[in-house]
Amino acid sequence: MDELAGIILAAGEGSRMKSRTPKVLHCLCGKELLRFPVELLGKLGMTRIVVVVSPVNQEAVKGLLGDTVEYAVQEARTGTAGAVESAALMLQGQFERVVVIGGDSPLVAEDSVRRLIDGHIQDSRQMSILSGIAQVSQGLGRISRDLGSQQNVLGIVEANDDTGRTGEPVEINSGVYCFQADWLWENLGQVGAGKSQERYLTDLAAIATGKGDAVAAVVADDPDEVMGINTRVELARLEDIQRRRIRERWMLEGVTIMDPSSVMIDDGVVIGQDTVLLPNTMLLGNTSIGSGCEIGPGSVVKDSSVGDDCRVTSSAMEEAVMEAGVDIGPFSHLRPGAYLETGVHIGNYVEVKESRFAAGAVMGHFGYVGDASIGANVNMGAGTVTCNYDGKDKLRSVVEKDAFIGCDTMLVAPVTVGAGAVTGAGAVITKDVPPARLAVGVPAKIVDR
Ligand code: UD1
Ligand code: MG
Repeated sequence: MDELAGIILAAGEGSRMKSRTPKVLHCLCGKELLRFPVELLGKLGMTRIVVVVSPVNQEAVKGLLGDTVEYAVQEARTGTAGAVESAALMLQGQFERVVVIGGDSPLVAEDSVRRLIDGHIQDSRQMSILSGIAQVSQGLGRISRDLGSQQNVLGIVEANDDTGRTGEPVEINSGVYCFQADWLWENLGQVGAGKSQERYLTDLAAIATGKGDAVAAVVADDPDEVMGINTRVELARLEDIQRRRIRERWMLEGVTIMDPSSVMIDDGVVIGQDTVLLPNTMLLGNTSIGSGCEIGPGSVVKDSSVGDDCRVTSSAMEEAVMEAGVDIGPFSHLRPGAYLETGVHIGNYVEVKESRFAAGAVMGHFGYVGDASIGANVNMGAGTVTCNYDGKDKLRSVVEKDAFIGCDTMLVAPVTVGAGAVTGAGAVITKDVPPARLAVGVPAKIVDR
């Protein structure tokens, strides 16, 4: 029999989020809540992970996780006990132990769950619960212990039924459990419906105590990690905690962050040493920043790659790439498909989309470059615009190396300006300009230099 299987509960309505999006697909630091337990159980080496979904959210959840996990559908929302039951048929008789975790508890630490499992095995328990001492316990279940010297677990009291809560802090239930598998399958059926008509998985604690089976709660070191998310207030609170942790991790790795609380770094971002993040900067999604960069103030970099020694001042980037030694801003915008090679300089109020600037090309002032290829060392004058759309199609502009594009030039695509060519101020280029020639006027004519 295999050692450990994992069940992630994600079939709840998440009604307290008041959202059209299923709760477990809301994001914390740029990552869907449900990904956290999936990654956690993966790190613990579980060979099988079953995610319990509902008929309503199954499509969305499967869209997110694909075939990295297995799915059980909980047909009716009967509570957390019912949710675990829906996974029973898939796992029964095949595993020694089962770890159950809610899809709404993103900060649970790997070490704590490892400690939970180790203690469970060592003490041959039937049920182990990960708990935490929380200052804010709104809506969460509480571990009740006897007052004797052993302080044995008596059960878990759900917030709705909790008349004995005397204030905070309290020992709350994280919603993470390790069960002896056969015991779990045998006893789940004994969980009845409570006041709310839901069958609480947490009732198993009292069932175990009642029968003299071994149940214990293991207290996590950090109370933050055991907090679940039921409302957007809790989502914001946990996101704040996680954002602080991410910033501190990068600072310890050699990144300078000025005014840290104003800087947001998503979970998957990578940052090189001696990079400085200035206030109000957001590094989002799948972004990597090289070393020795200065990003901000007020820059937003999403799903982009920035090489070493770059500067991104008060600018936005999305799905864009910068090689080393590039600088942009303030107030420029690199849109999807922008690619700036080494040493490119982009100044203020420039928008670049689906275009490549070769090494050393510069565009210091306002303008638009879309669907274009700009050669090495080209100078794009202030106000240059690629007229890339004729109302029907997107068309390409090519400016070959060493060309000099005069201020306010309109490049009416499709068009090519040859290597070393020059355009006059205000030229409207409707036909190709041969290499090294000069084009002036509206529409532009080729003249001698
Ligand atoms: C649950 C625990 C509570 C604990 C808290 C930790 C119960 C009865 N209570 O409360 O003791 O402190 O988690 O965060 O278990 N779900 C299903 N099917 C259902 C109902 C829920 O799959 O029929 C899923 C939800 O999607 C969620 C998880 O189970 O991911 C927990 O459900 P939720 O309604 O959030 O329970 P809490 O009230 O937070
Ligand atoms: Mg919850």
